[in-house]
Amino acid sequence: MKKVKVGIIGCGMITQTRHAPEYAQNPNAEIVGLYDANAERAGEFAALYDCKAYPSVEALLADPEIEAVSVCSPNYTHAEYSIKALQAGKHVLCEKPMALNLEDSRRMMETAQATGKLLMIGHNQRLLPTHRRAHEILRSGAIGRILTFQSNFKHPGPENWSVNRSNTTWFFDSRKAQFGALGDLGAHKLDIIRYLTGREVAQVNATTMTLDKRKPSGEFIDVEDNAMVFFRMDDGVPGIMHVSWTNYGEEDNSTVIYGDKGVMKIFGDYSDDIVLEMRDGSIVKYMVGKIQTNTHQTKSGIIDEFIGAITENRAPLITGQDGHNTLATIVACFRSAKEGRWVDVEY
Ligand SMILES: NC(=O)c1ccc[n+]([C@@H]2O[C@H](COP(=O)([O-])OP(=O)(O)OC[C@H]3O[C@@H](n4cnc5c(N)ncnc54)[C@H](O)[C@@H]3O)[C@@H](O)[C@H]2O)c1
Repeated sequence: MKKVKVGIIGCGMITQTRHAPEYAQNPNAEIVGLYDANAERAGEFAALYDCKAYPSVEALLADPEIEAVSVCSPNYTHAEYSIKALQAGKHVLCEKPMALNLEDSRRMMETAQATGKLLMIGHNQRLLPTHRRAHEILRSGAIGRILTFQSNFKHPGPENWSVNRSNTTWFFDSRKAQFGALGDLGAHKLDIIRYLTGREVAQVNATTMTLDKRKPSGEFIDVEDNAMVFFRMDDGVPGIMHVSWTNYGEEDNSTVIYGDKGVMKIFGDYSDDIVLEMRDGSIVKYMVGKIQTNTHQTKSGIIDEFIGAITENRAPLITGQDGHNTLATIVACFRSAKEGRWVDVEY
């Protein structure tokens, strides 16, 4: 099979830990070149992967050899780079959160539609074997009717992850990130909630806060380091989510679904992946595969899915619409937090 030739925009941690190694491992993909605003990093990375370092995004997108692009630069570049890439005739895998606002995410979807190119969003958690298995178990009716749910994503913060390991990272700069923990970690869990429950979020009541992260000046950062959200799904099912950059203990990436026949705990305890606690007292355990943590990366499957969708000429499992619906929920959370009340999610 002819290999899909790819370009990567942004050579930070998500490219270093996921996109680049997973392209290199995929037999149907070849990295042709990359671009990073930091030319030194781009040069080092190009040498490592034996590919070109382009002087600009425009130069990368003008290369007719490149058929597909990963957009792995900071949030504020996602819409601009993705739209330019689609217009240049490339398939796009854009990291999450998809964009900074819904006008941009709609324009991204419209451009994909108009150009006939794929637009996939990096909500990789739904590709995890454990989440896929949990999805199957839920659909089989094992825990009955879903009554409520709870999802968490809490770690010590992106200054322990980004290529810039300090509190000057772009993740703490609202002009570049727009959102804090809600856009970074909430984006993953909102996608998982939609995927596992099979429902869209209808209403949210959210609180965002900055409890601990500070700029070098000593002032609090200007994005939230914690967010707590109450949900009402489109059929009325209620749920809650806590995302946090201030969990200085073990990373928490758990989701618990409460049904009328039992409870499903996903990554509730790191010794078992899925545990069903049944109403009759019986316990069923599944070992499927560990989740990635900041310090322990496993293959995410995001690149295999993107390349698979291109070569099989099919829609990817995580579409632009998935990214948009998640972003719409994030936007509604901020409106709710500002207005101090329940709000409808406007898609
Ligand atoms: N799917 C996931 O699990 C996951 C995890 C982490 C990050 N992300 C997302 O990936 C994206 C990148 O995050 P990261 O963790 O790699 O950040 P990072 O700070 O480690 O790296 C960012 C890189 O982008 C480069 N850059 C900055 N401005 C640029 C520009 N205008 N054009 C091109 N390159 C530019 C920087 O020089 C740096 O190399 C973010 O949108 C983030 O939300 C996704």
